[in-house]
Amino acid sequence: MAEELKITASSKEEKYLELLPQIRSVVEGETDMIANMANVASMLHETFGFWWTGFYRVSPPTPEGGLLLGPFQGSLACTRIKKGKGVCGTAWEREETVIVPDVDAFPGHIACSSLSRSEIVVPVWKDGFIVAVLDIDSKELATFDETDKRYLEEVVKML
Ligand code: SME
Repeated sequence: MAEELKITASSKEEKYLELLPQIRSVVEGETDMIANMANVASMLHETFGFWWTGFYRVSPPTPEGGLLLGPFQGSLACTRIKKGKGVCGTAWEREETVIVPDVDAFPGHIACSSLSRSEIVVPVWKDGFIVAVLDIDSKELATFDETDKRYLEEVVKML
């Protein structure tokens, strides 16, 4: 298992290409999803210097459940989000990754931090159901694009 994160690349795509095998080596020997989410949040956060990087889990794991704050890196965040609410609840309801270039232009955005300017939310699938979402916030506008979507969707498959 990799003991220490080692990223030397400078471009976004190259960083993901260096990061993905390191994430794989950390999570592949562990079946506990919360432990793996904790390390994935840390590795993404450290590599890219995002403002907030973390998971909300569907809890209880039923259609009536809501999103409950899980492992994250960054400042204090709201604890529970209902289906269809905010960017996280929207990605869960639509069952797809949502990229928001400007959170002020997203109706219903939940502002956990006034410094957050753009956001990406990626659903985490397990056995045909969404069990969590990966939420990443940036202090810059339009940080996230199709490259992030592609690689982050690969990352959450490893959980
Ligand atoms: N902004 C998110 C809420 C979570 S925090 O950003 C950590 C949303 O609108 O779903």
